Amino acid sequence: MASISVGRDDRVFVLTGAGISAESGLPTFRAEDGLWAGHRVEDICTPDAWRRDPAGVWAFYSARREQGLTVKPNPAHLALAELEAKLGDRFFLCTQNVDDLHERAGSVRMVHMHGELAKARCERECGRAPVDDRQVYRNLAEVGRCECGGRLRPHIVFFGEVPLEMERIEREIAKSTLMVVVGTSGSVYPAANFVNWARHSGARTVYVGPESPLNASSFTNVVEGKAGVVLPGLFQTA
Ligand code: APR
Repeated sequence: MASISVGRDDRVFVLTGAGISAESGLPTFRAEDGLWAGHRVEDICTPDAWRRDPAGVWAFYSARREQGLTVKPNPAHLALAELEAKLGDRFFLCTQNVDDLHERAGSVRMVHMHGELAKARCERECGRAPVDDRQVYRNLAEVGRCECGGRLRPHIVFFGEVPLEMERIEREIAKSTLMVVVGTSGSVYPAANFVNWARHSGARTVYVGPESPLNASSFTNVVEGKAGVVLPGLFQTA
């Protein structure tokens, strides 16, 4: 079994994708039976789709919310929370996932660069913070309204929109000495480029997943296997 040493001076940046939640029972996007199978991304996950068919877009994400309520963090989420507990501020987690399994596993120093399934925000960008729509709206089948009257859209970064917290992410990558990327196909940018940013600042870069991602050649090390099997026990901390 592979192991990765994490020394006292190391700072670890972790990027996760849909693959880390696969063993919890959530489908990935680009697998044959994945979330995009039978859907055109342009009909669901673009600002234009939301303008044309808000009810359809809302329904797609509502179905995923329902699914999210039935699943639990798996050993991979727990292993990352455990690593954070050991490293404290020398650990940072960036997830492309919109589920809440990392925080339910105990991760704290983290960002959701593609948004969060459990939240909705005003489409008019009226300045009010995103709301937790599980508490505010009992009927998740309907598009809700913000206090200002605007429609509430899913707090999801649609294709063509800028991911969230990019400045903080760039700062954290620049500081890191070890980047660990888990369960993402390397097909969506800018996340697929993070490995190159990390290498540029001299960090070791490791990929963990059952198959090589599209950007595999950018990693110094690829550990093949399921996240829930590989991550527990992967890190040897000083
Ligand atoms: N452990 C680790 N990785 C896994 C596992 C597992 N048990 N099962 C599958 N994988 C890997 C697959 O090999 C694949 O490389 O997870 C990856 C999932 O890739 P995608 O479906 O493309 O998902 P992701 O890379 O997270 O997508 C990026 O695309 O549609 C957008 O915004 C959406 O955040 C998403 C982004």
